[in-house]
Amino acid sequence: MKPFYFLKVFCVLMFCAVANLCAQSSSPLQSAAIDQKVEKLLKQMTLEEKVGQLNQYSAGAATGPGTGRTGYPEMIAVGQVGSLFNLIGAKQTNEMQHIAVEKSRLHIPLIFGLDVIHGYRTEFPMPLGLAATWDPALIEQTARIAAKEASTDGIRWTFSPMVDIARDARWGRITEGEGEDPYLASEIAKAYVRGYQGNLDSPDDIAACVKHYVGYGAAEAGRDYNTTEISDRTLREIYLRPFKAAADAGALSFMSAFNSLNEVPASANPFTLRQVLRHDWGYKGMVVSDWQSLWEIEAHGIANDDRTAAEKGILAGVDMDMEGNLYHTHLAELVEAGAVPMSVVDDAVRNVLRVKFALGLFDHPYADDTKTAFDGPLPAASRELARKAAEEAFVLLKNEHAVLPLTGIHKIAVVGPMADNADNMLGSWDAQGKANDVVTLRNALTAYCAAHNIAVSFSADASAASADADVILVAVGETASEMTGEAASRTRIGLPGAELVDEVAKFNKPIVLLAFAGRPVVLTPIEPKATAILEAWFPGIEAGPALVATLFGEANPSGRLTASFPRSVGQEPLYYNALSTGRPVGNVDLTRPPTTGLEKYHSRYIDEQNSPLYPFGYGLSYSTFEFSTPQVSASSTSAKALNAGDAKAEVHVTATVKNTGNRPGDEVVQFYIRQRGTSVARPVRELKGFQKIALAAGESKQVDFKLTRQQLAFWNIDMKEVAEPAKVQVWITGDSASGTPAELEIKP
Ligand code: GLC
Repeated sequence: MKPFYFLKVFCVLMFCAVANLCAQSSSPLQSAAIDQKVEKLLKQMTLEEKVGQLNQYSAGAATGPGTGRTGYPEMIAVGQVGSLFNLIGAKQTNEMQHIAVEKSRLHIPLIFGLDVIHGYRTEFPMPLGLAATWDPALIEQTARIAAKEASTDGIRWTFSPMVDIARDARWGRITEGEGEDPYLASEIAKAYVRGYQGNLDSPDDIAACVKHYVGYGAAEAGRDYNTTEISDRTLREIYLRPFKAAADAGALSFMSAFNSLNEVPASANPFTLRQVLRHDWGYKGMVVSDWQSLWEIEAHGIANDDRTAAEKGILAGVDMDMEGNLYHTHLAELVEAGAVPMSVVDDAVRNVLRVKFALGLFDHPYADDTKTAFDGPLPAASRELARKAAEEAFVLLKNEHAVLPLTGIHKIAVVGPMADNADNMLGSWDAQGKANDVVTLRNALTAYCAAHNIAVSFSADASAASADADVILVAVGETASEMTGEAASRTRIGLPGAELVDEVAKFNKPIVLLAFAGRPVVLTPIEPKATAILEAWFPGIEAGPALVATLFGEANPSGRLTASFPRSVGQEPLYYNALSTGRPVGNVDLTRPPTTGLEKYHSRYIDEQNSPLYPFGYGLSYSTFEFSTPQVSASSTSAKALNAGDAKAEVHVTATVKNTGNRPGDEVVQFYIRQRGTSVARPVRELKGFQKIALAAGESKQVDFKLTRQQLAFWNIDMKEVAEPAKVQVWITGDSASGTPAELEIKP
């Protein structure tokens, strides 16, 4: 082989090594220059000042159990506060910042936080709806607008993205995340981090905070704050993946969770906080507890007093105490008593200071309070993005007789409370969102009908419905303030108000059900009576215009579910990427009770089907799409070569997607795999790629996905993340329950 070949290989390898180093060092968390500044400052700090950086308080709230402390100036002036949150406004934050920077001995700036979850003032669809867009670029744009708005009001740290994988629709906080799939959640987590943090070189940039670390969504029985039992393998394969993706994307902070994980509270869990986060991943950002979650480890039963809770929290790896007041009260004494090494406190302080330097707070601690506070009319571009996001979030679940989009309509009857409930369109965690900013369905539809000579009537009950209406819209769902979000788990997850469908069915007119909810709801009882069903989530400030555009066909629905919709709540937890079990049902008819042994002895219910009413990845369009059977570029590859990163081991899977409808539309092309013959059981399907593509009527496009170590490796019987010999099926299709697979083999 010519010597030049080796030189070429060497150059390529060096380029990759340097590129990787550049990528790493481009993250401020890996910056040697910042580390030098941190060390220089740390050396000057007293123990009390170090502890001060580890305290976070909510503005106006009583700080921690029993203290009732609400004023902070005196604490900030002596360096006893590292962060405030829920303080809104450039003038308000600057007032506190001037005290920290000008009065404290070392002039260390505060970092101001807030839950900016799906927008700051421009409220976008809540996260489960945003996830249904399958559009990371759009989600990144929403986060960018949120960052610009929030930073205008002095906020430089958002407690977002929430990336808790959720497989149980009873859990109210499923609304805040991306649903049940780790790959999709990872892609979206990276998009939020990019949107919030930008290049960390502008006062518009805000620190992301990936939460709730970890396993919170696995709450037993879907009951919020409940126990979680997760095997190490499932933890690695499912729940940790989006956190790792966000860390790799440079997220500046994590938030530890409320739940216990395998009997160890997540906010005092050395395995996840030190072994995984710091040792395995080399993460250098900071970890803040959840609201008093350090104090709650006493209720969990692993500490009998506040001092022990503080000791266990800091030793486990929680850097900052949110509203618990435990570090403020006990940490210095714990160090002086030798219970907590100073080095542990120093590391926590390093993590906090590193984030403050990375955000540029030492150079630019103040918000520009010469700008008008962010309370004027929203920019048109923000509204346009909010509308686009809502349109892409809607999931068309049913459309019998192509009743949608509406055409040739002369009279519409709209029944249900959600047509006119502006506040409800904002969903939970609505930050500075304002009901006055919301254009409701009623507002938008009234204007549209006036412009198109269509009569329209509205009522919160069934009274607006009439025999001379051409179509009846039923707008019902969960209330954002009580029935979704934190501490809002439900054991009966029907669609509130759905009985209106029964009431208006007597008119024998097409019924279009608009479902507003923060979770998958059970639509089974009313599905047969609704001609069309549109899942609208909580669509944000442009709810009305987005719904009207969709109902009349200006927008073509492209949303796809990211959480399975069950037939009944008894199926929960329910998710597509499940294991086969030793008794898969195969082709047994599950629509009726078993009548023979052959039908009975399977992993099934006797009173319900196994499958969801609507599966992960599902959604209809006003177009129709066809997929060719996938083609593989090779019928086999080698596990050894894959694990060595040999590009020649890569297999490409292609298919042709055709828009067989009569209008342009977007299709979310989904790439799934299944591996059998491996050392541990693998799911019957796993999402390993997706592409959202626009196709004109009749247009075809070839899509190409690749299989490399990244898609095929898993945590095997030895808990090593590797690719193994396997029989592999691959699908390129429109949802997790459809498609014709191609096959290939991974040889040793
Ligand atoms: C809440 C939530 C968390 C939020 C925090 C601060 O209890 O669990 O998601 O960021 O407190 O508001």
